[in-house]
Amino acid sequence: ADGGEGARIFNGNCAACHAGGLNRVVAAKTLKIDALRKYKMDSVDAITKQVTKGKGAMPAFGKKLTADEINAVANYVLERAEQGWQ
Ligand code: HEM
Repeated sequence: ADGGEGARIFNGNCAACHAGGLNRVVAAKTLKIDALRKYKMDSVDAITKQVTKGKGAMPAFGKKLTADEINAVANYVLERAEQGWQ
């Protein structure tokens, strides 16, 4: 999946709570690389699992997005985190 698809999925499903890589619900759990490392979410596998199943106040997307779409958005989040969401 290319960055375009990941960006489209992120903007449509995640940005309401995670615009700019932040977290409007649980402020400490941002999508920035330091937070992803701290909470052991700094891998495509970990992000894929959380997006599929949800966690706490974050909804599950396993019935809304396909596995390919979840993979694309997980790669997109990690790439943006590594770039500092610039
Ligand atoms: C946490 C990704 C949609 C609310 C996270 C984390 C990731 C992530 C990677 C872990 C951050 C960390 O531990 O530092 C995504 C993606 C989404 C999405 C890719 C879209 C497919 C949403 C939406 C909401 C939301 C729509 C709000 C309704 C939260 C909350 C947490 C969280 C509350 C903290 C969960 C916890 O550990 O208690 N998200 N998210 N997310 N997200 Fe999302």
